[in-house]
Amino acid sequence: MAPSAPPVVHPATTLVNVPAGEHGLELARRVAAACTACDLYARATQTVFGEGRPSASLMLVGEQPGDREDRAGEPFVGPAGAMLDRALAEAGIDRERVFVTNVVKHFKWKPVPGSKRRLHEKPNAVEIRACRPWLDLELEIVRPDLVVALGATAAQAILGPAFRITEGRGELLDAPDFGRQVIATFHPSAILRARTPGDRDRMLAALVADLALAAETIRAA
Ligand code: URA
Repeated sequence: MAPSAPPVVHPATTLVNVPAGEHGLELARRVAAACTACDLYARATQTVFGEGRPSASLMLVGEQPGDREDRAGEPFVGPAGAMLDRALAEAGIDRERVFVTNVVKHFKWKPVPGSKRRLHEKPNAVEIRACRPWLDLELEIVRPDLVVALGATAAQAILGPAFRITEGRGELLDAPDFGRQVIATFHPSAILRARTPGDRDRMLAALVADLALAAETIRAA
């Protein structure tokens, strides 16, 4: 009989009994830095692991790092991060008190012919699945009471592929497979891409309202 291929061990599953809090996060961050569970690591500068308060009650989950985040090694520090900061401030949430991460930890991009720009590409289901153990580990370490999914990619990764932001946005949802309540809302980048100033204002107001609901929910927990 031909020898079978060795089982593929996801690096996140090598971390057992990871302590909660800062120490556990540092351990996970170090192992995630060498993750090759999907092909995205090859073209990205670095793994962008989640950041923020290690015992945060609120976790914000985006899609994947963008160009700026890929270079900085931190989530939501580029234009989308500035929009997120604005919405958090308007909702009365201190970013220092939350944990911010993404469903995919490497920047997926394609070159723009004749330019040095790196164009964001949406992660596919295989890449999202390959990265999932890192999100699960972040949840296990941080143990937030509530998760806010920013945009369709994060919302569908958490709530299932049938979820639609246009239908379920801004509701406090039970996500039994996920182990905690979830609010799905607009991605800050979608607000930056809004077609008209009116759309932009409406989407920003919705993001702020959804974050305010998240703040109220964790206060009441
Ligand atoms: N968009 C995301 O989804 N995450 C980031 O970290 C930055 C931009």
